[in-house]
Amino acid sequence: FSKRDAKFVLSATKPEHYKRIPPNPEVTFAGRSNVGKSSLLSAVLRSQGLVKTSKKPGHTSALNFFSLTSGSCPGAISLVDMPGYGYRSRDEWGGFIMKYLSTRKELRRVFLLIEAKVGELKATDLSFLELAEQYKAPVQIVLTKTDKMKRADLDSICKTITQSATDIAPSVVQPTVICCSSRTKIGIDDLQLELLRVCDL
Ligand code: GTP
Ligand code: MG
Repeated sequence: FSKRDAKFVLSATKPEHYKRIPPNPEVTFAGRSNVGKSSLLSAVLRSQGLVKTSKKPGHTSALNFFSLTSGSCPGAISLVDMPGYGYRSRDEWGGFIMKYLSTRKELRRVFLLIEAKVGELKATDLSFLELAEQYKAPVQIVLTKTDKMKRADLDSICKTITQSATDIAPSVVQPTVICCSSRTKIGIDDLQLELLRVCDL
């Protein structure tokens, strides 16, 4: 898609803020603080400057909604940049996100980002997966910042992470993992195709 197809819609800190967004198919980017959610969304939208990123963890502090239309296809999809977990207090983050996951009917997929170098799921990732399982939100694992890794090490990390994610959220975790780097743009095409597919675009 091209830059002009992507737009910032609004920033939400409560459900009232986003309930009037048209009911387009929606995907969201979740994960620990600083894992690269905003950078990945920016790469997917091919739109530098539209999504704010930062070296400082805890940068994104609201649910930021973007819309994307694609060429001649009718309709649009919504993409949501989530605040990272593990930075704000669990209660503050949890209540807000729980409301979103439990009520958002348009949600087609949660891309759960894990930094490849970390190589495992942390307690906060497991808590998030428990919530997703409870609310039946389909989750796809995305390994980020793969430019920092050797390709040979990625396969075993994918397996380990898929196994532990499936153990905790068996009915929602998708079997395939997408490996991406916002820096080298490796995997960005795969992620774009996947999100267009789940949104029927
Ligand atoms: P919060 O909003 O704080 O939760 O963070 P976030 O997950 O949105 O992370 P963000 O995209 O702001 O990026 C955090 C840092 O990681 C920035 O310094 C980015 O430049 C860096 N970063 C993001 N993606 C990549 C990548 O693919 N490779 C490398 N090497 N660094 C990256
Ligand atoms: Mg962010």
